[in-house]
Amino acid sequence: MSNKGGLAGLIVADIQTSLVNGEEGKLVYSGYTIEDLAQNALFEEVVFLLHHVRLPNKAELEETRSKIAQNAAIPDAIIQMMKNTPKETPAMAVVRTATSMLSSYDADAENLTDKDVAREKALRMTGQVTTICAAWNRIRSEQDPIAPRTDLTLAQNFIYMLTGQEPDKTASDAINVYLVLLAEHGMNASTFTSRVITATGSDMHSAVVGAIGALKGPSHGGANAEAMKMFIEIGEPDNVEDWFKTNIKEGDRRIMGIGHRVYKAPDPRAAILKQHAQRLAASSGNSKWFEIADRLENAARHDDYFIERKLFPNVDYYSAIVLYTLDLEIDMFTPLFVMARMAGWTANIVDQMQGRLIRPKAQYVGPTGLSWTPPDER
Ligand code: ACO
Repeated sequence: MSNKGGLAGLIVADIQTSLVNGEEGKLVYSGYTIEDLAQNALFEEVVFLLHHVRLPNKAELEETRSKIAQNAAIPDAIIQMMKNTPKETPAMAVVRTATSMLSSYDADAENLTDKDVAREKALRMTGQVTTICAAWNRIRSEQDPIAPRTDLTLAQNFIYMLTGQEPDKTASDAINVYLVLLAEHGMNASTFTSRVITATGSDMHSAVVGAIGALKGPSHGGANAEAMKMFIEIGEPDNVEDWFKTNIKEGDRRIMGIGHRVYKAPDPRAAILKQHAQRLAASSGNSKWFEIADRLENAARHDDYFIERKLFPNVDYYSAIVLYTLDLEIDMFTPLFVMARMAGWTANIVDQMQGRLIRPKAQYVGPTGLSWTPPDER
């Protein structure tokens, strides 16, 4: 059998967290459509939902929110490590290293068997990773990091820790929607990575660090930053068609933020983010980036190559515009994805604990029948 690579179409786990229907462009988290959750839910509700396969009641939601907020502070040693890190280090590399360091300060880091302990650890890590992201953004611009508040939601706390100011409602609502939309997505590359690591019996911090590494790549979570760089390169809405012709039709580049392994219909998350991007663009008085993205999507939608291959904007395409309009630095886009996907990763990790080792086979296509000779005879 020929091997096309990429494990496309292979089912590797039974999960209850999300259903990705790529043919119809639908996404459901544990029974609830993504449209319903994006419209109504707090990120903390989604964290609970993914871990417990049901929505929390009011008390459970407040308990989840407050556990995340109360455990979001990070050890001073991690702040010091970030202060000693060269300022030009990519944010994702810092987030990866700092997340790994968290394990040295977590009393339950090596508890590999108790799922209740693991769920508590997941809440801690979800808050701590958010603090790491905000702290690095300040430290690299020579500002002191700000400790998390215990009275805020994760989205509000992120804005507070970034700016030191009372979180603006428009911004924290937009971040909350982003976190809800990006929280979980079937057997994507980083979730799969986290399951492979967990299935060896390894710990949650290792699994999350591996997932962060997988998410960093431009074919996966790194695409949001690459999409924004592409929009900036295009520069003006009127340049879109020429850029498309030169770089895509006559060149060999890909449109970042377009195409998906599973979605062969529009990604439902992209449609929601497009509406938010448009609204934010209008309210910020700068709709240039939205117009560029919209025009480029339009060029692709009317092009036979993209039509035949069923290539549509994915979640990263319009999220780039949303995050840029909220004044986030481009290399913070993928760390924000980490903050969101902590929910899905940790739910999958807990589910995978004590599961069977994941160990596929490779097809050997190398030489055969050779005999060793001494080095000076080769
Ligand atoms: N621009 C132009 N052509 C594309 C694009 C694109 N963005 N994406 C896929 N294609 C083409 C490929 O060239 C290929 O054409 P061919 O059949 O003539 O060889 C065909 O569509 C299928 O592409 P594959 O790379 O085989 O599809 P795969 O499922 O392996 O890749 C991927 C999916 C990596 C997402 C791809 O579409 C891509 O590189 N997109 C841009 C990066 C991106 O946005 N990544 C984020 C994905 S969403 C997420 O991870 C959160």
